[in-house]
Amino acid sequence: MTNDSAIGIHDLSFATTEFVLPHTALAEHNGADIGKYHQGIGQRSMSVPAADEDIVTMGAAAAAPLIARHGGDGIRTIIFATESSIDQAKSAGVYVHSLLGLSSATRVVELKQACYAATAGLQFAIGLVRRDPAQRVLVVASDVSKYEPDSPGEATQGAAAVAMLVGADPALVEIEEPSGVFTADVMDFWRPNYREAALVDGQESIGAYLLAVEGSWKDYTEQGGRSLDEFAAFCYHQPFTKMAYKAHRHLLNYSGHDLDEDRVARDLGLTTAYNNVVGNSYTASVYLALAALLDQADDLSGQAVGFLSYGSGSVAEAFAGRVVPGYREHLRTEAHRAAIDRRKPVDFARYRELHAYSFPADGGDHRTPAQTTGPYRLAALRGHKRIYTAR
Ligand code: HMG
Repeated sequence: MTNDSAIGIHDLSFATTEFVLPHTALAEHNGADIGKYHQGIGQRSMSVPAADEDIVTMGAAAAAPLIARHGGDGIRTIIFATESSIDQAKSAGVYVHSLLGLSSATRVVELKQACYAATAGLQFAIGLVRRDPAQRVLVVASDVSKYEPDSPGEATQGAAAVAMLVGADPALVEIEEPSGVFTADVMDFWRPNYREAALVDGQESIGAYLLAVEGSWKDYTEQGGRSLDEFAAFCYHQPFTKMAYKAHRHLLNYSGHDLDEDRVARDLGLTTAYNNVVGNSYTASVYLALAALLDQADDLSGQAVGFLSYGSGSVAEAFAGRVVPGYREHLRTEAHRAAIDRRKPVDFARYRELHAYSFPADGGDHRTPAQTTGPYRLAALRGHKRIYTAR
């Protein structure tokens, strides 16, 4: 490959949790009209982790099919993006590296900036591949979204992991230059180290997201990016799927386009199918949108897809990808549908039990209840160490 060759997403796979709570159960509990969830925020259900699932088990489950298909050769870097970190020092990626049996000749690091970090990981991966095109980088985005019970955020929880193999001459999506980037210091959503559930000002967060859409698109345009009319679809960060619609209408308006609802539906319609039933998967969300688009669209070969990645706090990036001809032969549509369909519905009481469960913090040795039927589980805490096993 020459220095100008394409670099991007060669393969992509996602995993989610053992359990699922339908929004009908939440509406029954709190008396909300189900229309508020199904139409108002655009969510039908949320993934709920079992007691023995976390960002590592989901991340490893998402990445294992990539290793099974391509092997581990050439992977010299793993970038693990999350805001549900399990350790203040050790990268969750090291556990994934171990569970997948990858070579010791690997660098592993964890990245954090709310829901944005996977996009940073993707861009950093591209830089590494640009320097040495023989290398491939495994980018894993894995998160559990948890808000206080009975808070407005409760309806926008979820959990999932996406794994992407980034390399030269990619089979799925070539990531283009330039990128438009944006940072603003806002307190719209944050999670201090002493809390399991995030703190959020819901309306402020929506405003901060829209401001970041404007800011990153402005920079994208100034850097010489494509015009809005060149894109076949847009993958937005989807804390709830209606947020993508709010953001896209805002972008059309900001860039001087008429508000054409048919166009909005065409640009976004196929990107929400997974997030709609998984809920907010934070860092993974924008790439779940890409999976949903690629898995469902008629042939997108050669067409441009827009990405708008947002992380509270806040950082955003707007960029474009070109779908690689022949990509459909490499999709994992059946496995993705199976990951969603295999979840077991729980009733509201069971969901609240799982929500209240937190990993012991007393420093003692504990076994974790055996609940997941997924390929990896968090089996125990022993001597302050998390013990993971492959099933
Ligand atoms: P809320 O106060 O419960 O809901 O909070 P609402 O009253 O704003 O209603 C929601 C929508 O449903 C409204 O539509 C209502 O009109 C509609 P809108 O005015 O927005 O178009 N509605 C109905 N529609 C049909 N039939 C009905 C009905 N009733 C009402 N019967 C909120 C909603 C999203 C604020 C809350 O869930 C929340 O705080 N969520 C968490 C924060 C969040 O997701 N923010 C998004 C932007 S920030 C972000 O994306 C970053 C994040 O992912 C974190 C990170 O980066 O790490 C969160």
